[in-house]
Formats: sequence, structure tokens, C-alpha cells
Amino acid sequence: MLAAAGTLGYGVEFARALPLHELGAIVTKPLTLRPRGGSPPPRLAETPSGMLNAVGLQNIGLDAFLSDKLPALRAHRVPVIVSLLGESPEEAAQMAASIERADGAAAIELNLSCPNIRHGAHAGAPPGFVWTAAQDAEATEAYVRAAVSSTRKPVIAKLSPDVTDLVPIAQAAERAGAAALTIGNTFAAMSIDAATRRSRLGAMTGGLSGPAIRALAVYRVWYTARSVRLPIIGLGGVVRAEDAVEFFLAGATAVAVGTATFADPKAPVRVLRGLARCLARHGMTSIQQLRGALVS
Ligand SMILES: Cc1cc2nc3c(=O)[nH]c(=O)nc-3n(C[C@H](O)[C@H](O)[C@H](O)COP(=O)(O)O)c2cc1C
Repeated sequence: MLAAAGTLGYGVEFARALPLHELGAIVTKPLTLRPRGGSPPPRLAETPSGMLNAVGLQNIGLDAFLSDKLPALRAHRVPVIVSLLGESPEEAAQMAASIERADGAAAIELNLSCPNIRHGAHAGAPPGFVWTAAQDAEATEAYVRAAVSSTRKPVIAKLSPDVTDLVPIAQAAERAGAAALTIGNTFAAMSIDAATRRSRLGAMTGGLSGPAIRALAVYRVWYTARSVRLPIIGLGGVVRAEDAVEFFLAGATAVAVGTATFADPKAPVRVLRGLARCLARHGMTSIQQLRGALVS
């Protein structure tokens, strides 16, 4: 069980509330080359069926993370997957090289799909349209290839579920040498307060997450898993062990918990323990027995 990027800070802040060592891995808050202030408030908004966020990648920058946070996180004996967001493939390569030199990162998750930031230019996009590298197979391939060429650590490509067809994008990441895929991220979304006529988010638009997107994410994991050989980390709206089981049955190799952590900081561990009980109830000994075992 993994803790999803952006929902558990740098990990160390949650060490008292959550036994980090029980997790399969923690994916850090995404890091950019230089520190970022993030989006104007409000950054979170509830909708009737999901959470909207536009945090805008507020973070301390990669160097400060590697020197100040990573050593403390290592002491908790949890594998650390460093989430990074480069503004170009060259920058992603530079950041991957810094992580390669640092002691203690198990893997890199390339955030290609954050709907709160634009990755480079997209000539045809209308104003306000949220374009990320993971919406384009070529851009995905360029980012993954650049990162992979700078490190021996596994590079995981975090893809957007918010595309017409994930398969060519997933295959592009596979071609470029990704070790695994994370499917997926939030869906670009917007909520407007009718009384004030203003967006409920300071950044105007944001990303929708939580149980509202689970069925959308399970479907995308299921059909992508049939077209790539890479392991898939599935996520989107996992709150209970049974939700995680859905992703495993759809073909995921691992599952991450994001939004549920806001209501219950122990959620990733609670889901993990629930999974163990669930396996025992069905006479299974390994989660791999569930993987792709959907009955059709
Ligand atoms: C407040 C918040 C901030 C997030 N920030 C990031 C981020 O910076 N980078 C990223 O890759 N995903 C980010 N995510 C997306 C989650 O990692 C996850 O992919 C998504 O929310 C779907 O899973 P969930 O429904 O379990 O939250 C964020 C999600 C939330 C709710």
C-alpha cells in the first residue's frame, strides 16, 4: 500500500499519526527544481461527490528536500518514492540526476499529469484548458526518456486519467524505459459558487479526487493493463480495503491512497490491514492472487 503524492506532505509530518514503516512506500509531495509558493487560496473545495484541489505544487524545492527531509524520512524505514516535476525533459533529467546522487530514494515518480500546472506550451490549447505532458504520447516519451537516462533508479510515470485513450500514452512511457505506471491523477474540474459568481478555487480550476473518480480510475487501470507489460500502481478514491481490491482485480500491482488521508491520516494503513483480513477471508495468501483475477 502506498501513500499518494501530494496527500501526505513530505511524510515526516505524519510520522506520529501513521506508522510509516507499515507502508509499501510513501510518494512524497511533488518537488520542483526551485521552491514554489503554490496557488492562491482557497486551495481545496468540497463538491457533492469529490474533493477539488489546486495546491499548485507548493514545495520547498528538490535540494532542500534532499538535504532536510529525506534523511529524516529514511529513519522511518519506509521506501521513499520521490515525486518530481520538471518544467522540461531536460529539467526532469537534471532533477533525476540529483536524486540518483542522493542517498535514500527508492524510486522516482515523474509527475506528468498535475492539472494545476502547465508543462510547457501547447499551441492549440484554448485559454484556461489544462494541458499536461501526460496528455500527449510524444511529450510523455520525451520526459520519461530524459529521466531514465539520468538515473539507475526505477522511474515511475504518473499518467493522467483525463485523456481520450490512455493506451498510446502508457505505451510511450513503456518504450521510454519507465519501470512502472501510476494511474491516475485527478480529473481537471471546476466548481462555481452561484451566489458570488466566483470559482470556489483561487486558481479557478483544479483537480477532482476521492470516491467520485474511483469507477473512472478502475476502468482506466483495467484497459491499460491489457496493453502494457509494466506494473501499474492504481489509485483514485480508495477509502476501504474493498476499493483497493477493485484495482487489484482490474490488473494493478500496487494501490495508493490519496484523498482518504485528509479525513483519516491512518487511511493507507487501515486499508492495508483491511486487505490482509480480506485475503484471509477468501483463503488467499498473497495479493498477487487477486491481480487481474476479474471474472468476466
Ligand atoms: C490535495 C491534493 C494534492 C495533490 N497533489 C498532487 C501532486 O502535487 N502531484 C501528484 O502527482 N498528485 C497529486 N494529487 C493527486 C493524488 O496523488 C492522486 O493521484 C489523486 O488524488 C487520486 O487519488 P485519490 O482519489 O485517492 O486522492 C493530489 C491530490 C490531492 C487531493
